[in-house]
Amino acid sequence: MVLDFYRSTKVGERLRALVPGGGHTYAKGADQYPAHAPAVLSHGRGCRVWDVDGNEFIEYGMGLRAVSLGHAYPEVVDAVRNVLGSGTNFTRPARIEVECAERFAATIASAEMVKFTKDGSTATTAAIKLARAATGRDVVAICAEHPYLSYDNWFMVTTTLAGGIPSAESTLTTSFHYNDLASVERLFAEHPERIAGVILEPSRTDPPQPGFLEGIRRLCTRHGAVLVFDEMITGFRYDRRGAQYLYGVTPDLSTFGKALANGFALSALCGRRELMRLGSRERPQDDVFLLSTTHGAETTALAAAISTMEIYEREPVVEHLYKQGDRLAAGLREASAGHGLQDYVAPVGSGCNLVYSTLDADLQPSQTFRTLLLQETVQHGVLMPSLVVSYSHDDASIERTIDAFDGALEVYAKALDGGPERFLIGPPSRHVFDRRWSPESDTQPQSLVRGQPIDEATLLE
Ligand SMILES: Cc1ncc(COP(=O)(O)O)c(C=O)c1O
Repeated sequence: MVLDFYRSTKVGERLRALVPGGGHTYAKGADQYPAHAPAVLSHGRGCRVWDVDGNEFIEYGMGLRAVSLGHAYPEVVDAVRNVLGSGTNFTRPARIEVECAERFAATIASAEMVKFTKDGSTATTAAIKLARAATGRDVVAICAEHPYLSYDNWFMVTTTLAGGIPSAESTLTTSFHYNDLASVERLFAEHPERIAGVILEPSRTDPPQPGFLEGIRRLCTRHGAVLVFDEMITGFRYDRRGAQYLYGVTPDLSTFGKALANGFALSALCGRRELMRLGSRERPQDDVFLLSTTHGAETTALAAAISTMEIYEREPVVEHLYKQGDRLAAGLREASAGHGLQDYVAPVGSGCNLVYSTLDADLQPSQTFRTLLLQETVQHGVLMPSLVVSYSHDDASIERTIDAFDGALEVYAKALDGGPERFLIGPPSRHVFDRRWSPESDTQPQSLVRGQPIDEATLLE
């Protein structure tokens, strides 16, 4: 049976006519998906979503990795409902702000102070601002292999979407390689006393090699730079207490979001008191305006975060994410091997945060094959821009997904022989952006997994 996306397509057209990019996150946009796929969703529950045509899917994007417990998770919904009737925003701080801050500080050991805001980008940008204010320096060093840290200038200037950013800003961001300590050392040598901060995700698809994070920590301390871990994805997914706990390395500042409030809009900047206090109003020369937003302390998101952190503390959420992700990865590997496709389609990364590679007949990353695989898995009732599981992905859903994947691979195998264009309806999806590097720089992003090229689009959501 071929699924019908008639209504979805119509509503999607209305959306694109009014909203630039056809959505409020580029990674959700029409150009990221096959033409024959649900364009607009109506609702979700647990690990399932429904589109506006009534088609049901098991999904593996989970709100760009924000929904770690499951859609409309009842306990979180109840916690939000409980505060709704008491107002959501007041002229003075609300009591729930201290409750959420205390719960957060009890969870993340390095959080001597915390400031909440709504988006990850505002949190990482605030971390960069603090690093610059604390050191009196301008240059920030970012990890070349980490696909996205903020929509702000300091990051976007390294991409092909740098329109609207003064070109002078491109001189203030430099980069190093993940798991290559020498590249970090080189940066400090090339920019003596100019690097304000070093920012990276503690892990992406590769785990840190022994000594890498510890080495960056040492270099930052030695050179007086601020070390920032962006835990937007790793936080509340790799470990309830953050990847910084898992790997035993303490940054000066770190940023959280996404899974912090199970999809409600909340992110956090936290870290050493001495740095965070630069954003207070208590010092004689306080000149840092740090995260001051109308909606930063909206009570619903804080209630969702408290409830989410409580569930993580009480129940084996993270263990479940690893277990189900590992199970899914093993099933996918087996299905790929069954079709002789193990070199073309493979899960990549840690069970708690899986993506997948889609290679063409020449073993090169291929958007066309990625789009075809998405199209075919959609036909089998699975929506998998990545392979991100939640606490609601039960065994039956994982098994159904492996079957769907198996069915989709039949078409993939035929397309490797006969050409994907024969099977793909509409154009291939696009990368949201590519990273751009100056020609003289050797800091091209490397493959994230040695010997296995992977498609960056799968990482950028
Ligand atoms: C590692 C990382 N940092 C920062 C961000 C930005 O977060 P937000 O989209 O909430 O602004 C993202 C978003 O995908 C991310 O993956």
